[in-house]
Amino acid sequence: MMRIAIVGTGYVGLVSGACFAEMGLDITCVDTDRRKIAALNEGRIPIYEPGLEEIVRRNFDAGRLHFTTDLAACLGEVEVVFSAVGTPPREDGSADLSQVFEVARTFGRHIGRYTLLVTKSTVPVGTAERIRRIVAEELAARGAEVPFDVASNPEFLKEGAAVKDFMSPDRVVVGVESERARRLMARLYRPFLINNFRVLFMDIASAEMTKYAANAMLATRISFMNDIANLCDRVGADVEMVRKGIGSDARIGNKFLYPGCGYGGSCFPKDVQALACTAREHGYTMQVVEAVERVNEAQKGVLVRKLRELLGDDLRGRRIAVWGLAFKPETDDMRKAPALTAIGQLLEAGAEVTAYDPVATEECRRLLKDRPVRYARNMYDAADGADAILLVTEWKEFRMPDWPRLRATMRGDGIVDGRNIFDKQEALAAGFRYRGIGK
Ligand code: UDX
Repeated sequence: MMRIAIVGTGYVGLVSGACFAEMGLDITCVDTDRRKIAALNEGRIPIYEPGLEEIVRRNFDAGRLHFTTDLAACLGEVEVVFSAVGTPPREDGSADLSQVFEVARTFGRHIGRYTLLVTKSTVPVGTAERIRRIVAEELAARGAEVPFDVASNPEFLKEGAAVKDFMSPDRVVVGVESERARRLMARLYRPFLINNFRVLFMDIASAEMTKYAANAMLATRISFMNDIANLCDRVGADVEMVRKGIGSDARIGNKFLYPGCGYGGSCFPKDVQALACTAREHGYTMQVVEAVERVNEAQKGVLVRKLRELLGDDLRGRRIAVWGLAFKPETDDMRKAPALTAIGQLLEAGAEVTAYDPVATEECRRLLKDRPVRYARNMYDAADGADAILLVTEWKEFRMPDWPRLRATMRGDGIVDGRNIFDKQEALAAGFRYRGIGK
């Protein structure tokens, strides 16, 4: 049986580990966070992700999935090590690679026979080369001549659909430089091939670049649509019609064209910035990519701007219900969530905020610990006595509110629909004033 170690038990690491184990491989998930590993060994999953708990538990019980803090100890036993540790943004927007390099050092210090080190974390072009050098230095330092390879295997899974995406991906991108590494990777992904997707082998730099190009392209579509929506507002066009109109062109396609209150999450904001940074380091300015970020930052302010159109500039003492906190539905992830910007602006303006999210409330409470935000148990409690509702995350349960009930319990009549999910006519008919994005 093939034995693999996966370092980092975040979204990417934990999902990859569980899914590889599901295909019958023996997986050891490694993390330096003792509490996380202890929790996983007791069957508690640190993140909310549909379907994940079940496959973690099943494979753990079957003895194919192990959790440990000791990377050094398992390095003698595995053939492949996936590095899926964090690459958080530094102050200047570039990626902080210290965790990636630390894994490389430990790898170099402890491998005893041929082992393949695969980077799954999103890392700038050229990182694999630096990893290779670090491993070689560590081997040289202990006078060991152990063969190894490095490879790049960026992960494209979406939060909220991570298990599904991993199990049946559109494609798997693998950057390798030796036939041995290529064969190993092909073998590893063969069980997934039965589902008919492609493994694209390429050189390592291209694989590293592919990940950034994919995320920057998707982010570009969103910022572009937000730009179009803002103009629609001004010229009296309806961006929802424009979206359908252009999305039916097969060259454009209808996905990822939804205007809103800006993209958030752990990937787009960080990766767009890091790509621009890499370019600058190479003496090049990526004008489109840099504009994508500027447009997105500005767009996060759209909610409170629209709210002021309804309630007037002075928001002091106004009660605002915030519906949805997570950066997108089906996750409790609040990283770079537009809700944080909106809540910050509301508090700054002296408004009172009552927030509700189906799963992210605790996470929000943790992040905003000292801020005077109230949290409600459901969407109607949040709106009780409110002057306006700010819809930030498009959870399904928000899509068809009981408008008359809201009208009866709210103090005011404002609806700001940050994701264009409400039926405007229904809201108007119930006596509300409505603002969407670009319509
Ligand atoms: C993304 C990529 O999709 C994935 O391939 C990559 O591996 C990691 O980054 P994720 O961050 O989980 O995944 O979320 P995604 O569903 O892509 O949404 C990102 C943000 O864009 C969310 O805030 C979402 O609300 C926003 N978005 C998405 C829009 O505003 N409009 C759209 O049309 C689509």
